[in-house]
Amino acid sequence: MHTTGLMDTAQSMLAADKGLLAMDESTGTCNKRFAALGIPQNEDTRRAYRELILTTPDLSTCIGGLILYDETIRQKKEDGTPFLQIIKDAGIIPGIKVDTGAKDMPFFPGEKITEGLDGLRERLAEYNRMGARFCKWRAVISIGDNIPHRACIEANAQALARYAALCQEADLVPVVEPEVVMSGEHTLQKCADVTEEVLHIVFEQLYLQRVVLEGMILKPNMVLAGLSSSEQKSLEDVASATVQCLLHSVPAAVAGIAFLSGGQSAELASARLNTMNSVYKSKLPWPLAFSFARAIQQPALEIWQGKKSNVVAAQEALYHRALCNQTARRGHYDAKMEAQYAGKNT
Ligand code: 13P
Repeated sequence: MHTTGLMDTAQSMLAADKGLLAMDESTGTCNKRFAALGIPQNEDTRRAYRELILTTPDLSTCIGGLILYDETIRQKKEDGTPFLQIIKDAGIIPGIKVDTGAKDMPFFPGEKITEGLDGLRERLAEYNRMGARFCKWRAVISIGDNIPHRACIEANAQALARYAALCQEADLVPVVEPEVVMSGEHTLQKCADVTEEVLHIVFEQLYLQRVVLEGMILKPNMVLAGLSSSEQKSLEDVASATVQCLLHSVPAAVAGIAFLSGGQSAELASARLNTMNSVYKSKLPWPLAFSFARAIQQPALEIWQGKKSNVVAAQEALYHRALCNQTARRGHYDAKMEAQYAGKNT
């Protein structure tokens, strides 16, 4: 393990107020998103969509790292150029999702355990040889009647820490993603309590497994009321609850924090990140960045519709969201950015 190299990579991924773009949907998830828009679900359309993302002009000015999926890391542009080559030429750091998905946890109805540790050392060595420099593993924690149980949080935290240790052994920066999902009727306070407990347990496990905090990135959820809750709080309340939760539970040595979007609208995700940075940035030990999938991709996907003639407009939408989120890292995002973009595109 080269600790300095890991630290340099982790810092470079979030340098210059950039963030990460997660384009690592599994085949099933990608097909589900295509199906919702009537886009044919096959390897060819998935490849064309990923090519659209990777070839977005100027993407590298706002995006420091791209998270790929096993299918994608092996794919090529229509003209035969490997995707990895395009990413490297653009100066973006390639990463790869390495968990194999969240499965039902036995004896704990409604709770999930993420799998993928078997054979991981060998898979990491292959991804490293291919050129990946960081990895991602997502644990899923749901809030509901009497859940999550401690057993689910601990099992997922231990798997996250074992994954992170294996990544660092292989000179790959682990992005550690314990996601407390938004579905449910819970209050913002409940999300804050569960997220804080989850993060404490995750960092205890990372400590036990000797993970170097300076060489990892945390990818948490924002602290939000459940999607079906009638209580929807202001930007300031969300920013305050999220920042307090992180300050209580994330060691200062961690290289950076890059939020998932989790099903929020693209605009709200940018506005909430912006408020956190504009109000609290000077008081925080780590950069607060983004690692969004839906909150960057969804508007572009809706424009694309699987048609070549829509590629340029979809790329403009993708770049716009990436730029909004970089601007939010600086605390300078506002609704005018959306209005200007909408004005140019109507
Ligand atoms: P969302 O931003 O769509 O939540 O996805 C982030 C991610 O990478 C989930 O693992």
